Amino acid sequence: MQLDKDIERVLVSEEELKEICQRLGKQISKDYEGKDLLLVSVLKGAVVFMADIMKEVTCDCQIDFMAVSSYSGTKTTGVVKFKKDLDVDPDGKDILIVEDILDSGITLAYLKKILEDRNAKSIKICALLDKPANRKSDIVADYVGKVIPDEFVVGYGLDYNEKYRNIPYVGILSPSVYNK
Ligand code: IMP
Ligand code: MG
Repeated sequence: MQLDKDIERVLVSEEELKEICQRLGKQISKDYEGKDLLLVSVLKGAVVFMADIMKEVTCDCQIDFMAVSSYSGTKTTGVVKFKKDLDVDPDGKDILIVEDILDSGITLAYLKKILEDRNAKSIKICALLDKPANRKSDIVADYVGKVIPDEFVVGYGLDYNEKYRNIPYVGILSPSVYNK
């Protein structure tokens, strides 16, 4: 793939991503058996992870999407912009937020707060990647795919200025791309 040339190193391969989805899906299926599970994916970065993990969930569930953004290039702006709300009423639901990456934690703290104000029965977080080095809020993910170092990564839904989302693995973006 031509996009590969901008990737310095593969961080999570396609095989490992598959294993992560199977492992987390199994655990989620066990934990949410008999509950009113609503998987909420955060657009757009988490769509690929959502599509893969939902296939590994074997208990009854609904899915829905929210959209927010806080990033410009490789830096968070610290201000979360709300762009799309849920279609399903979260009242009484056991919500599992499916997110691509937990970085500063600002986005997830904001989303959790919004959902708490709307009477969800429970709210938990499933993050594919966890970058603890940069945490600015005390948010913790209940399910984590992989803890990664403080590097800017793209692929498997994750972008740099809306590009690279279609790479099938997670890779470290070559700094030459954003230092241009
Ligand atoms: P937070 O609010 O800083 O935790 O950022 C969460 C959001 O920032 C994620 O949902 C991603 O969209 C984006 N983000 C954080 N780190 C990266 C990265 O390494 N690559 C691509 N997007 C990232
Ligand atoms: Mg995102």
